Amino acid sequence: MPHFAEKAYYVTTPIYYVTAAPSIGSAYTTVMGDVLTRWHRQRGEKVWYLTGTDEHGQKVMRAAEANCQTPQAWTDHLVETAWKPVLDTIDVVNDQFIRTTDPEHTERVQEFWRRLHEAGDVYEGRYEGPYCVGCEEFKLLAELVTVDGVGCCPIHGTPVETVSEANYFFAMSRYADRLLELYETRPDFVQPESARNEVVAFVRSGLEDLSISRSSFDWGIKVPWDESQVLYVWIDALLNYVTAAGYGTDPERFARLWPADVHLVGKDILRFHAVIWPAMLLAAGLEVPRQVFAHGWLLVGGEKMSKSKATAIAPEVLTRHFGSDAYRYYFAKTIAFGSDGSFSWEHMTAVYTSELANGLGNLASRVTAMVGKYFDGHLPAPAADGAAEKALAEALATTVETADAAIDRLAMHDAVGAVAEFVSTVNGYVTEQEPWKVAKDTSAEGRARLASILYAAAESLRAVAVLHNPVMPKTCQALWASLGAGAVGELSAQRVQTSRRWGQLPVGATLTKGPLLFPRVEEAAE
Ligand code: MSP
Repeated sequence: MPHFAEKAYYVTTPIYYVTAAPSIGSAYTTVMGDVLTRWHRQRGEKVWYLTGTDEHGQKVMRAAEANCQTPQAWTDHLVETAWKPVLDTIDVVNDQFIRTTDPEHTERVQEFWRRLHEAGDVYEGRYEGPYCVGCEEFKLLAELVTVDGVGCCPIHGTPVETVSEANYFFAMSRYADRLLELYETRPDFVQPESARNEVVAFVRSGLEDLSISRSSFDWGIKVPWDESQVLYVWIDALLNYVTAAGYGTDPERFARLWPADVHLVGKDILRFHAVIWPAMLLAAGLEVPRQVFAHGWLLVGGEKMSKSKATAIAPEVLTRHFGSDAYRYYFAKTIAFGSDGSFSWEHMTAVYTSELANGLGNLASRVTAMVGKYFDGHLPAPAADGAAEKALAEALATTVETADAAIDRLAMHDAVGAVAEFVSTVNGYVTEQEPWKVAKDTSAEGRARLASILYAAAESLRAVAVLHNPVMPKTCQALWASLGAGAVGELSAQRVQTSRRWGQLPVGATLTKGPLLFPRVEEAAE
């Protein structure tokens, strides 16, 4: 429960189908949301970060059947043994975890649709057409790809099924004009721009009503006015964003959380979030979210990495080798949020080695070791800053500005990239200043110069620990401790905005060269 009075910055991930254990594809959104929300917390804002699991529908039901279990037993087991634990594996701090089988969710979903039914937005009809269980989506014939003469889903490449049933429809087409007006008046509602254009074109081409129930299976929430049918999994799942926020149960909590500031979604589920979801909210007289942001896919061999194609990799395979911080850094920095990206073991190893082990890790160990060697581990007082130190302080100020602005655009890659660039600048500074040579000059001037260089380098690292904390919390905590920065306060209490203030590390702070922040990967425990 949020225990604050003002509106929180409310971020959501999609809720994941419990068909198998999580892959690095599904973990991607959750990590990116975690970097985003940790950054906002580090700004001092109240934040609410929601994730969870989508447990109804045919896709989950069939996975359970294939494993000879009831869907409830299957999801209970997998959520507890895989979906919740993966959050620790990738070091995510969520404020809440929702399951669509939670009774409170089920009740609120029924209440929502009962209202729309009573208001005349739901009618009885008959649906006939192709359905992809992989997407849990009705498809248009024109969208299908033909493989060996059979109509297949363009995303899954598997044959679609034909559904022909009497069921209920949501009169979504009534909301087409209001949706177009929404996209028009609030250009930020769907981002990035390419996603917005796609959505606008889709709605302009003519919006159809949506079949919202199924009668041929029963793993779902019962239609409240007709128990022979279950609600279509998507119109149950989308409501998680409001049921988790206290919709219909806790008005105060709802006021503090809703509307969500951003729904992070993969591009494959954009239309559900940018068309169906706001139409549902408009029909119910609820506010629409502030933004839906569609990111790209992790690709393997040019195709979406997926459990069904057996190209999925479990996050712990990578975290065991590289550690959770390097994992988070790699995905956050190397893939532009909003575009597709390819993962490869070789690329991840190269980034780890050059940017983390040889970059940040080596810088931290060089600086702390030199303070140990030349000043007995106590941070020396700097003399007046020279041009190089002033340039470093200016580079820091620019870094903070650039990174903070990037976060507002949800360009997490640019934010992490800006801080990484600052690390390179500091590394360059140390290399150019050659403190190990200056140390040979034992005159008072030589000592003063050495003190200034090491102070500037340590002070830069203090800021790096704050600015990289949202992406690499464990490393930054270790760095904070080895810089003796506890004297400045807790790392979590440091603010992005004030991190640029030069001269915060107190003279005399005790620096220790702890264990390597990023051990060579071949030495990492397998
Ligand atoms: N259950 C629905 C979402 C309901 S939200 C109200 C669903 N689940 S999913 O498990 O199939 O996918 C969840 C999210 O994981 C989607 O945003 C999807 O894009 C993302 N990813 C799954 N594989 C992915 C990649 N290979 N790369 C990046 N993200 C991917 O859809």
